[in-house]
Amino acid sequence: MSKQRRTISGRTAVITGAASGIGRALAQRLSSYSCPVAIADVDEQGLKDTEASLRGPALRKVLDVSDAAAVHEFAAEVREWAPQPIGAVFNNAGVAVGSTVLDANPDDDNWLWNINFHGVVNGTRAFLPILVEQDEGVIVNTSSVFGLVGMPGQSAYCSAKFAVRGFTDSLRQELRGTGVSAVTVHPGGVNTNIVRNGRFREEPGGPSKEQVVKEFAAMAMTQPDKAAAIIHRGVEAGKSRILVGPDAYLFDALARLAPTRYFDVLEWAQTRLRKRAAS
Ligand SMILES: NC(=O)c1ccc[n+]([C@@H]2O[C@H](COP(=O)([O-])OP(=O)(O)OC[C@H]3O[C@@H](n4cnc5c(N)ncnc54)[C@H](O)[C@@H]3O)[C@@H](O)[C@H]2O)c1
Repeated sequence: MSKQRRTISGRTAVITGAASGIGRALAQRLSSYSCPVAIADVDEQGLKDTEASLRGPALRKVLDVSDAAAVHEFAAEVREWAPQPIGAVFNNAGVAVGSTVLDANPDDDNWLWNINFHGVVNGTRAFLPILVEQDEGVIVNTSSVFGLVGMPGQSAYCSAKFAVRGFTDSLRQELRGTGVSAVTVHPGGVNTNIVRNGRFREEPGGPSKEQVVKEFAAMAMTQPDKAAAIIHRGVEAGKSRILVGPDAYLFDALARLAPTRYFDVLEWAQTRLRKRAAS
């Protein structure tokens, strides 16, 4: 099936997790492409800073995406406010947890699943009826390269991101033949606050959280504004699956070529990158 180009520039965009990182960069980029933007986040100050950096109209909402009722309320507010039809809903808010399965703190894992998976489901359910009524618009759900491969110490994150992929792929098939579509985004490392803001269980003899934050900053290949440009262009090009950054292409290829052995290669690459980060 040929890819159908979509226009989201100039339409209203909804972005969760817009107080930082990729969400903030998406808000800034889309605003500069004449999109009125409805931005939501738990971080009120960060959201205000994002709003102050925008070029056009914005609706700012302090919101926890894991609260289904609050997300539905937000959708009703956006419907009232939107100066243009809704072009895209970016279910982008997310958090990180680092821990082995053996030592996992169930509260931390549930915190992550409620935001990274149920937050995406809540955003989709709240806005989908509006898009279906318009018979236009795109649901853009953020997974990760960790939604393509499993990584040690990342069981909660990977399972949520695999779930986002499965949920969005199913939705995409349901929407065939309509004017509405569903897209999955798989970023590789993007230099944001995701690790700094995450919950990390330090193992005896293992790296400290500060070390992991430093390593991540050294290994993240893509800057948030570049990630936002790739996502914006990918959605408008009609892609169903958007890979963000050169490392995302590597993860994708490895997952296909060596579905049970990919970690042999990733471990080797990780060790080299760690050494580079340390120097
Ligand atoms: N940075 C990366 O390398 C990377 C890689 C793959 C996927 N991702 C995904 O990209 C998305 C954006 O992350 P980022 O890297 O920009 O991180 P970030 O920490 O810079 O931004 C995430 C934003 O989500 C917000 N948030 C957290 N919990 C929330 C909640 N309950 N309700 C509403 N907002 C909430 C945070 O306050 C923050 O502003 C996430 O889904 C993340 O999992 C990031």
